[in-house]
Amino acid sequence: MISIGFESTAHTLGIGIYDGRSVRANEYATYSQPFGGIKPGDAADSHSVNFESVLTTALNRAGIKLSDVGLVGYSKGPGMAPCLRISRAAAVFLAERYKIPIIPVHHSVAHIEIGMHECGFTDPLVVYVSGGNTQLLVKRNGRYAVLGETLDIGLGNAIDTLAREMRLERAHGGEVERIAKTGKYIELPYTVKGMDFAFSGLVTRCSQLLREHSAGDIAFSFQETAFAMLCEAAERALMLAKKKEILLCGGVAQNQRLQEMLRGMSEENNAKFGVAAPEYNRDNGAMIAYTAHYLYAKYNGNYPDKDIVISPKYRIEDAPA
Ligand code: ATP
Ligand code: FE2
Repeated sequence: MISIGFESTAHTLGIGIYDGRSVRANEYATYSQPFGGIKPGDAADSHSVNFESVLTTALNRAGIKLSDVGLVGYSKGPGMAPCLRISRAAAVFLAERYKIPIIPVHHSVAHIEIGMHECGFTDPLVVYVSGGNTQLLVKRNGRYAVLGETLDIGLGNAIDTLAREMRLERAHGGEVERIAKTGKYIELPYTVKGMDFAFSGLVTRCSQLLREHSAGDIAFSFQETAFAMLCEAAERALMLAKKKEILLCGGVAQNQRLQEMLRGMSEENNAKFGVAAPEYNRDNGAMIAYTAHYLYAKYNGNYPDKDIVISPKYRIEDAPA
């Protein structure tokens, strides 16, 4: 059965197609945010303008017609309400028009499940690091349980704030990673509390130090410190949960230095390390198409969430997985 997935929680409109074995299309259009960050209404406008062309490209790439689709999934949340409505409306229309089942998908569950699929993992400790979220999770009785998480902002948002303070051309983690390669180490505040951690003090200190140090030194030291915090908390969670696999996922999972540090920690603890390709870690539609398919099959067509709405503050603990 062919599934289609619509993703529009924030800056990216993604449409993916999965045929039950592999991803056939994963197309997207990204709203380029103004300097101050995303304006939800403008992002939603951009998604609605781009919808038709992204859909057509995805169908062409997969070599299918809309009437070939047997299942539709959409990102229910968490995210920005005006953006979320775009995918929900499209999914409801499709489900009605072709009388096919519809699956509301939790955005973070999708980031995790596509990572599991790509890495061939069954029961990992999940290190989920994206813009708004930074969490350590394990699956228990068909739900994800949060073992540790950020006490303030997500690591991706922390990095983007720092990038803005640095006046980088693109306020994005990829840019910070690039300039970090030229830097040397400066000591910075380090905040880990058990399996929780916090990043806003680190960002504030880095912003102050930008007056005395190069952006490269700050970027390098920020990454070393923030990623070490994450590794320390993840190692504790690994011990506690007694897992043999570590899955890194979410937008920040694309960072090579973070991958290297977590891979090292995994090897020291005889655990397998896995991370999916970048196209599945940034926001994308394939993860929604895949996860809709996975959940539909897992629950034998009787997926327990029948609430076909949007949920801007959807907590991962509340989502079937
Ligand atoms: P969420 O899943 O919380 O809704 P999101 O919608 O912000 O996240 P994602 O695409 O999952 O979107 O993650 C985007 C974040 O990933 C941004 O903060 C971005 O700076 C960060 N990011 C992307 N590439 C890198 C990189 N190479 N190094 C560090 N951070 C990165
Ligand atoms: Fe995301």
